[in-house]
Amino acid sequence: MTPTNFSQSAHPDLSDSVSSNADSLSDSNTALPKAEPNQSQQTGQMWGGRFSEATDSFVQAFTASVNFDQRFARHDIAGSIAHATMLGKCEILTDAEVKTIIDGLKQVQAEIDTGEFAWSVALEDVHMNVESRLTEIVGTVGKKLHTGRSRNDQVATDIRLWLREEVDNIVSLLNKLQSGLVDLADKHTDTIMPGFTHLQTAQPVSFGHHVMAWVEMLARDTDRLIDARRRINQMPLGSAALAGTTFPIDRTITADLLGFEGICQNSLDAVSDRDFAIEFTATASILMMHLSRMSEEIILWMSAQFNFVRIPDRFCTGSSIMPQKKNPDVPELVRGKAARVFGQLTTLLTLMKNQPLAYNKDNQEDKEPLFDCVDTVTGSLIAFVDMLPNIEPNSDAMRAATMKGYATATDLADYLVRRGVAFRDAHEVVGSAVALAIDKQVDLSQLELADLQQFSDAIDADVFDYLTLEGSLSARDHLGGTAPNQVKQAVQRARKRLAR
Ligand code: ARG
Repeated sequence: MTPTNFSQSAHPDLSDSVSSNADSLSDSNTALPKAEPNQSQQTGQMWGGRFSEATDSFVQAFTASVNFDQRFARHDIAGSIAHATMLGKCEILTDAEVKTIIDGLKQVQAEIDTGEFAWSVALEDVHMNVESRLTEIVGTVGKKLHTGRSRNDQVATDIRLWLREEVDNIVSLLNKLQSGLVDLADKHTDTIMPGFTHLQTAQPVSFGHHVMAWVEMLARDTDRLIDARRRINQMPLGSAALAGTTFPIDRTITADLLGFEGICQNSLDAVSDRDFAIEFTATASILMMHLSRMSEEIILWMSAQFNFVRIPDRFCTGSSIMPQKKNPDVPELVRGKAARVFGQLTTLLTLMKNQPLAYNKDNQEDKEPLFDCVDTVTGSLIAFVDMLPNIEPNSDAMRAATMKGYATATDLADYLVRRGVAFRDAHEVVGSAVALAIDKQVDLSQLELADLQQFSDAIDADVFDYLTLEGSLSARDHLGGTAPNQVKQAVQRARKRLAR
């Protein structure tokens, strides 16, 4: 068999195989039944061979995906160049054919880059638009590109190539955001704010410690994305429509050329699997949930009632009626945008639910949710990278708020426990001391020693060392605690991790 004997003309495929049935393109070299030789000229479509009338124009527009999947053009062309190269190496196409195809594909890419490429809804999707233009440019040989593949493995490959790149971009934004936050935390290891439970003042914490909590969330998100990327970065190409191909292809060649770290091991699974997209969206949902929590805190802290932080004016807008307003639009919007991403996760899960093997047209609906999810996450992170590390804490207001909430009550209890009082009894003593302080409208640290001693004779003058905010903070001196020196160490660990 000479290489050209592998041309697809001998292996007519069905609807998803473009070139074998691509009679609509001029100078077809196919050996399809000649009973109705002009059929596809009548339908004007790449797969028109077996059709006796053209697709209804509404149906054509309704089923087309080119308006959105043209986003894959670069990846589609890269996949085609790798596929053609592999066909050449496996002697399925001649070297000359491969060269012509690759040169043609590069010209198609150039036309897309300059904006002169004419996208056609009649050609349904990005794959057929690119291939059709290729054949216009290079002639009949362009139709050989689709040998041994199908749009089913082609689209699955495109999504993965595209998503892999988007994940890398999102990971780099996440790293930038973390670095900015680590720097912010480093500046504020000694800035004291109330830590909350139930949104009630609980214990003093360092503002840096709070910021480092955000960094922890983002670090887990980054980890999850990197982990998901391994499963995204598997190659479906070579699975063809669903069962593999009769041509002697070598999938390792294409996988190497495209930088895939693995090859999908089952052709049926490969063309129908969208787990990787769902997994990405699930990971993105958790990330957006985190961004919404950070947003919520910024929004609360910016209110006149908290007055804990200022955010740069460029992230805010005013009110058309209330001159005093400075609204935290960016965090509010990000909080809202989390809803879209959760929605897209549900869309993709519901899309795949009950789908039988293998490819189904339903799968075309995977793209817009995924695009929206990527765009929403990317946009939110771009805003956050600039905004979040630039918040300015109002340390006076934070300190005053901490003083108001009897935040060192636990410290007093711990002090008594260290002096032999049982914790439950200590709890009782401190409750009484707090009641007195409320009565006198002072903080625990502002009570007289004699006032405190009436509740327990275990209390000495050194108690005040523990009742100050600084004393409370620095006492929590263990891994993960809020003591300023521990926050410094957390900052160092994060910097080391981010430098890797
Ligand atoms: N536009 C299609 C999609 O997005 C490409 C695959 C079409 N395959 C087919 N057999 N109709 O899923």
